[in-house]
Amino acid sequence: MKFSPVTIRGGLTITRPVISAAGCVGWGDVLRDLISPTALGAIVTPTVTISERIGSTGSRTAETPAGLLYNTGLPNPGMTRFLDEVLPLLAQYGAPIIVSLAASNPQDWSALAAALEDSPDVAALEANLCGLPQANGSTDSPTLQEYLVTAVRSIRRACSKSLLVKLPPDHFNTADLCRKAELEGADAIVTGQSLRAASMRWSGDQPSLRFGEEGGRYSGPAIKPISLLQAQLAAGASTLPIIAGGGIMTPQDAIDFFAAGADVIAVGTLCLVSPNAINTLNDEVAAILQKIPGDDFRALCLTKRPRAAG
Ligand SMILES: Cc1cc2nc3c(=O)[nH]c(=O)nc-3n(C[C@H](O)[C@H](O)[C@H](O)COP(=O)(O)O)c2cc1C
Repeated sequence: MKFSPVTIRGGLTITRPVISAAGCVGWGDVLRDLISPTALGAIVTPTVTISERIGSTGSRTAETPAGLLYNTGLPNPGMTRFLDEVLPLLAQYGAPIIVSLAASNPQDWSALAAALEDSPDVAALEANLCGLPQANGSTDSPTLQEYLVTAVRSIRRACSKSLLVKLPPDHFNTADLCRKAELEGADAIVTGQSLRAASMRWSGDQPSLRFGEEGGRYSGPAIKPISLLQAQLAAGASTLPIIAGGGIMTPQDAIDFFAAGADVIAVGTLCLVSPNAINTLNDEVAAILQKIPGDDFRALCLTKRPRAAG
């Protein structure tokens, strides 16, 4: 079987199975010399907010035996400088650019989306529901659905490009959030966000939580089983294309996610640990698919589901 291009309502077409997850190939500068421009089916930017954010001070990453604990604080230049200074760099890759966004109120979601509507270099928008707390509360259940609705409605009002909604890594809400996102006009679901997590640091006999009481976020191989279930739950609940990530480190991991219902695969931590692996991952995924009898990779999906037209 083979991968066939995934067309997402609103204009985004992904012609190769693997894309980069938000934030993991940076702003087009650091990894430019390591990652081949043609290696990825699309690039998702780090999350952009209305105003510049400096991000976390001090060390931002800590390795654990099976995953990466990180706390970036969403450093970004703000939307105006992103458009002027960063987007031209990213456009040189030649891959479709998906801009990750976060806001804490409807006005900011709309303003971010409106700023991108006329940019020919931007293929799609991705709403990061774990990016910023809401202005009037936390992103925790039970207000999560309201937060999602606010984000999708506000973006939809201001921009007609493909809108991807990146869910929090929460199995209890996944099916409901998928249905809500689809109902409100989202065009694709993204699964596999990193999880809140902590690690302990010892200075002599004094323990302290790395990254403070809020902890950090956890990504990499340790989260694959959790993300795989979320992808499967999303595929069962939505007719929209599913872009699934979370712990994908090998070509076989990617195939596992196709079986769970993914249409496209997103890799994050792998880009940081082994950028060279990205350069060959799409070809390796294609080679495994080729050995499986059948026509289209979607036949691997364990959940037989209707799919929205692109
Ligand atoms: C260093 C780093 C930065 C990240 N930045 C963002 C970001 O800006 N926005 C976002 O939605 N996710 C961000 N993520 C989460 C990834 O997009 C991805 O969902 C997560 O890492 C799980 O996938 P993985 O196990 O393949 O890394 C970041 C992850 C890492 C490791």
